[in-house]
This record gives sequence, structure tokens and C-alpha cells, in this order.
Amino acid sequence: MTLLLVVIKLVINKKTFWASNDANVAINNIMTRTSIRSYTDEPVTDAQIETLLRAGMAAPSAVNKQPWKFVVVKNRAKLKEIADSIGPSRAAAGAACVIAVCGDMTKTLDGVGRDFWIHDCSAATENILLAAHALGLGAVWMGISPDKVRVQTARTLLDIPENQEVLCFIAIGYPAENPTPKDKWKPENYRVIE
Ligand SMILES: Cc1cc2nc3c(=O)[nH]c(=O)nc-3n(C[C@H](O)[C@H](O)[C@H](O)COP(=O)(O)O)c2cc1C
Repeated sequence: MTLLLVVIKLVINKKTFWASNDANVAINNIMTRTSIRSYTDEPVTDAQIETLLRAGMAAPSAVNKQPWKFVVVKNRAKLKEIADSIGPSRAAAGAACVIAVCGDMTKTLDGVGRDFWIHDCSAATENILLAAHALGLGAVWMGISPDKVRVQTARTLLDIPENQEVLCFIAIGYPAENPTPKDKWKPENYRVIE
């Protein structure tokens, strides 16, 4: 009887948190994503890259400004240059491609809202990371802004115009490592106001 009650409780809880199979798949994709910095030689197709870009551009943005520009780097010499010039971006060396996520300063809000481009482009970046994981690819967010030296290096390497800022690089490829996703659940990191 007790066992039956436990099973019923588990089913109810599962229904509450994971309402449908689709939701289950989406939540599972979020919970199992982890940064991948080592890749096989298998190329990423143009169709996959378009899916990633579509995911990025599907992100929310303040006042729907969509103030983003993406640069896809597939050139091996350029990927190596990125890895060699920006230490924390060294995962680029073995990646099939890097997507640079840039903010288009001609599309930002005025005044204090200007910096929402960082939120917008971060949302786009996370969408790309999750889409990559859903496609069986591995990816890692490599921070560029607000480090001025990294921004300048990225600008020069990828010929980014002055009216764009570089938020980050995303290295992408088929995973050559299989790290366990980190358990970051910490109840002390939230509170509820009822
Ligand atoms: C803003 C930001 C900047 C990051 N910069 C780098 C970076 O330059 N190089 C790198 O290898 N990883 C970078 N990461 C990835 C983090 O190290 C990683 O997300 C963190 O350790 C948590 O691990 P997980 O992604 O596997 O959950 C960055 C992540 C964020 C969100």
C-alpha cells in the first residue's frame, strides 16, 4: 500500500514538472547540456549551421530589437588563429566551426536600454548551445566582451565593423569527450515570495 502511494506520488510529481513528452525532451536537453571543448574531425553541415543560427535568432530580445549579427568561421587557419590569439578560446583550434555572436549597435535601444543587447545576444547564445546539444553536437561559450583586449583581437581577426560589439565565440563540433553535466541545483539560490 505504501509502495503504491509512493508510486502515485512520483507519477503526480513527474506530471507536475514534466507535463508532456515534448516538455520532457526539452527539459532533458537543458539539464544534460555541458560545455564541450574537444571535438572529432567530423564536419558540421551547412544545414546544421543554419539550424543553429535559426535557434539563435529565435531568442527573445528587448522590444524585439534582435540586435545581433553572427559570423560563422569554418576556415581552419582562422580557427587556429582564434585559438592562438585568445587563450580562453583555445577550443576553437579543434572545432568544426566557431560562431561569433555580435551586438549590432545600430539596433540597440537608446539610453539606459542600450546594454540590453548583452542580454539579447546572451539569450541567442544559450539557444545556440541548446540547439547544438539537441543535434548531438558539442559546444562551448567562450567569453569575449567585456574584455577589451579580447574584443579588439576578435574584431581584427574577423573584420568586425566598429558599429558591432563582440559578445562571445561559440566553438562547435562533434564531441570527442563525454563530461558528466554538473549538478548545479542549490536550493539556497532561490526564494519564493507567496
Ligand atoms: C559568459 C561566459 C563566458 C565563458 N567563457 C569561457 C571561455 O572563455 N573559455 C571556456 O573554455 N569556457 C568558457 N565558458 C564556459 C564555462 O566555463 C562553463 O559554462 C562553466 O564552467 C559551466 O560548465 P557547463 O557549461 O559544462 O555547465 C564561459 C561561459 C560563460 C557563460
